Amino acid sequence: MRKKIVAGNWKMNLNLNEGVELAKELKNILDADKPNCDVVICTPFIHLASITPLVGDLIGVGAENCADKESGAYTGEVSAAMVASTGAKYVILGHSERRAYYHETSEILKDKVELALANKLTPIFCIGEVLEEREANKQNEVVKKQITDALFNLSAEDFSKIVLAYEPVWAIGTGKTASPEQAQEIHAYIRSVVAEKYGKEVADNTSILYGGSCNPSNAKELFANPDVDGGLIGGASLKAENFKGVIDGFK
Ligand code: 13P
Repeated sequence: MRKKIVAGNWKMNLNLNEGVELAKELKNILDADKPNCDVVICTPFIHLASITPLVGDLIGVGAENCADKESGAYTGEVSAAMVASTGAKYVILGHSERRAYYHETSEILKDKVELALANKLTPIFCIGEVLEEREANKQNEVVKKQITDALFNLSAEDFSKIVLAYEPVWAIGTGKTASPEQAQEIHAYIRSVVAEKYGKEVADNTSILYGGSCNPSNAKELFANPDVDGGLIGGASLKAENFKGVIDGFK
């Protein structure tokens, strides 16, 4: 059956020392009280090589992005192969902040996903509508197009390696969480879209995380839904105690 996962997305926060300290603290806390789900932290590129050896098998480590090119003259970019060489196992792709501020299109994301998979990284692929789309009741249409355009070129075998994260843009960093009913409804819809393309077995095995103002006080209620397989956590992943509170949503 599909995995339950709580993944942190540190975004552009914490210098190297602060990040290393947070990872150590989190490892100690989870060593003392083992989680009932997989735990992942996605960090800025520069933290990866320092953090992967510190956290062992207890915590998966991921990047927040990777390049859409394999290697070469792309100043400032970091390739999927470079990410994998640090020991990281995951990469967030298609985050709404990358789509909105760095103009990442489905065409670009398709290449990133392929390079991530070729380097044995698990993409945590983000989808989600903006407020105007939700208000116009277009959320299903939007997420279906995002998945179809960037992922449905994959074979069933490759698609099975993807983790999806539904992150309504209006809930990210706003303190406005999707209600458990809203989350369940669209997660079930997303699973049906996957089932239509790849069949029920692949859909049943796909982890679909919820992201957007998820915190220790609402995690349990969100994770209790049958189609919500965990969370992608921004702000609440920046303090070990808060992140642990979200992880305990599975207890
Ligand atoms: P917040 O948890 O800060 O709302 O961020 C969610 C997010 O964007 C995770 O990728």
